[in-house]
Amino acid sequence: MVMNEDEVKLVNSESGIKQDVREFYDSVGWKQIGDDIYQNARYEDLRPVSREYIHRCHLRVTQHLNQEGEYLLDAGSGPIQYPEYLEYSSGFRYRVCLDISILALKEARNRIGSHGLFVVGDVANLPFKRYAFDGVVSLHTVHHLPAEEQRQAFEELYRVLSAGNRAVVIYSWGDHALLVRVTRLPIQFAFSLLRLYQRLRQKEDEYSQPASADESAETARMVQPTGTFTYKHDYDWVCRELEDIQGLQVVVWRSVSTAFLRAFIHRLFLGKWWLRVLFWTEERAPRLLGRIGQYPMILFKKQVEVEDR
Ligand SMILES: C[S@@+](CC[C@H](N)C(=O)[O-])C[C@H]1O[C@@H](n2cnc3c(N)ncnc32)[C@H](O)[C@@H]1O
Repeated sequence: MVMNEDEVKLVNSESGIKQDVREFYDSVGWKQIGDDIYQNARYEDLRPVSREYIHRCHLRVTQHLNQEGEYLLDAGSGPIQYPEYLEYSSGFRYRVCLDISILALKEARNRIGSHGLFVVGDVANLPFKRYAFDGVVSLHTVHHLPAEEQRQAFEELYRVLSAGNRAVVIYSWGDHALLVRVTRLPIQFAFSLLRLYQRLRQKEDEYSQPASADESAETARMVQPTGTFTYKHDYDWVCRELEDIQGLQVVVWRSVSTAFLRAFIHRLFLGKWWLRVLFWTEERAPRLLGRIGQYPMILFKKQVEVEDR
């Protein structure tokens, strides 16, 4: 297990893209900007009105994992930033956190201590033997790889999974998702209205907090968030390229983006209630919303141990 900076060697040579991604997370993404809040959480909706929905979406992952085992691999673990993430490995003896960012792993170690084993590595070239894990999760990570390496990453996650066990990969279809495309203009329109409303409120109350200006800049950024490299394949790509993976299924993790939530979900307009309706709908049509919504869970279940893939 590698944690000493001097000993850090990525198992495979890094492409420029991976180096940029690593530098981003080491210097920006996993910097704390508040009590246990990372810069990366800027891409999440942390408002109380959305909390229950986000919490329930996080817990969806546990339904698709075995509840116990020796080793759970968390590929691209980050710092294990949300409390729900701890649930995924609660029945496992060890959570093996692998990440390209050493800062992520240091933060993860602060969080889970001796329950964790920490490895600096690349999800497309896992430094583990096959069948090593009783469960695998990889959340919001594969889309950081260059397009041509993403298939290899899925194959690697599948290779290290042992028979009878399950893997959950949370991915994003980005602009390929129908719901993302049809809501883009309405979201922009809603943000314009919100900015107008904030300006009017500021005028009304000359003592109002300047934070509202920050808020509108923040919401504007959500429409075109900046950050580091991502590439998102579409649903057809997954079905075509991963067809050999046993037990492949695509179901919804969360159908709407953070921008959507910030634009349309507000306490005054019964936002919590609308999110209950959305969650209920996702539960009833997981495959459809996994396909047309923004964030799918790509699931595998390895039935039998097969010769090297
Ligand atoms: C968006 S964050 C997600 C972190 C965590 N899974 C979560 O959901 O909060 C992506 C993480 O993947 C890591 N990462 C990006 N490319 C990687 C690669 N090629 N191999 C391993 N980790 C990678 C980043 O360092 C970062 O910690």
